[in-house]
Amino acid sequence: MYKNVIILGAQWGDEGKGKIVDLLTKKSSYVVRYQGGHNAGHTLYVNKKKIILHIVPSGILHDNVVGILGNGVVISPIALINEIYSLEKQGIFIKDKILISENCFLVLPYHVHMDVSREKSSEIDIIGTTKRGIGPAYEDKIARRGLRIGDLRNIKQLEIKLKEILYYYNFQLINFYKSNPVDYNSVLSEILDNAPFLINMIADIPEILHSAIKSKKMLIFEGAQGTFLDIDHGTYPYVTSSNSTAGGASIGSGIGPLNFDYILGVFKAYSTRVGFGPFPTEVFNKLDDYFCKQGKEFGSTTGRKRRTGWLDLIMLKRAICINSFSGLCLTKLDVLDYLQDIKICVAYRKNHDIISTTTPLFIDNWNEVTPIYETLPGWNVSTMGINSFSDLPYAAKNYIRRIEEILELPIHFISTGPDRKHIIILNNLFDI
Ligand code: IMP
Repeated sequence: MYKNVIILGAQWGDEGKGKIVDLLTKKSSYVVRYQGGHNAGHTLYVNKKKIILHIVPSGILHDNVVGILGNGVVISPIALINEIYSLEKQGIFIKDKILISENCFLVLPYHVHMDVSREKSSEIDIIGTTKRGIGPAYEDKIARRGLRIGDLRNIKQLEIKLKEILYYYNFQLINFYKSNPVDYNSVLSEILDNAPFLINMIADIPEILHSAIKSKKMLIFEGAQGTFLDIDHGTYPYVTSSNSTAGGASIGSGIGPLNFDYILGVFKAYSTRVGFGPFPTEVFNKLDDYFCKQGKEFGSTTGRKRRTGWLDLIMLKRAICINSFSGLCLTKLDVLDYLQDIKICVAYRKNHDIISTTTPLFIDNWNEVTPIYETLPGWNVSTMGINSFSDLPYAAKNYIRRIEEILELPIHFISTGPDRKHIIILNNLFDI
């Protein structure tokens, strides 16, 4: 049985990871977020009740599981606290079972203000961010001027740092973005109000994880966003600001790469992306309406309509290479139920003639590729909620087997609907 498992998206996020994390954490002791912040949106259906999580790790809904926010996560104090209280209103109490690293960087109001001002200021450089301040918070981390959770323990020193940071931010906001400055006192009072709550959650995360590994406890590492939103390996600059690929799990939690023994790549039976950037298999009009309606493809963080398209196996091949996936989880199979024909992208045509089976690596070259499709027959019957592979219609089985054949990797889970129970487990590697 595998003990330390990374679960992450193989596309542009929103692959339905939350549900799989929730399923696999049934038997685990800890669920660890290692990158991103409250830009993520993980939707879960528990007993037909819809629960959306942003920064709180998905697996925490099980009583036995402690949630961890590793050093790679950026934390908006107010967003985290509001999420915890909003879960309490739904009868879910997690306050005493979340631990955070003192090295997590803070997302504060000036980050949000900067994110929003930038997205407004230019039509050329617009990324379509979630406007949650995530990019500026990571910028501060790399520029070595950021404030961390640990800084909350020394308010005198924090006040000095905050003054300098705001001098820097307000200079840019006023002079470059022609925007309003951020008020020092209001940011400080927000920090002071929330500091005690957060200080209570601080723990030595690498040590806790090492001890858990020694005592053979199961750990789940939960990725946010997806492979092609990774700051290094995604479709830069149309990416998020953290390493959402598997390597991020080690860096963002503080345990070495040899501690992981299974990496699950989650992908949708088709593709979606939110925000701007390359999307070779994107579809429009009627088909886009179909995917959006059947797949409820509206962002759980911003409510934005997602762009939709066919499944791109060339991108998935690249995702397998970057993440060294051990196996795959195909989600939202049921969304394809009423399509006559189903396309999968099996190669790219570059500059109208050269055939390529790898993705471009540089942004300019994405415009040069067009997808080459293989068309498979649809099944025109509901697969919603099916629990066993043998109960799937022949054409659906064929679709799944063809994907495995091209990717040369097994699919270990198939999600056939939104509920926890709507799942086919093809190989019970986790004793669930
Ligand atoms: P940021 O992470 O808010 O800076 O946004 C950068 C890009 O990542 C934008 O295209 C967002 O739409 C996208 N993004 C961020 N978080 C998610 C997510 O959880 N799912 C899908 N896209 C996301």
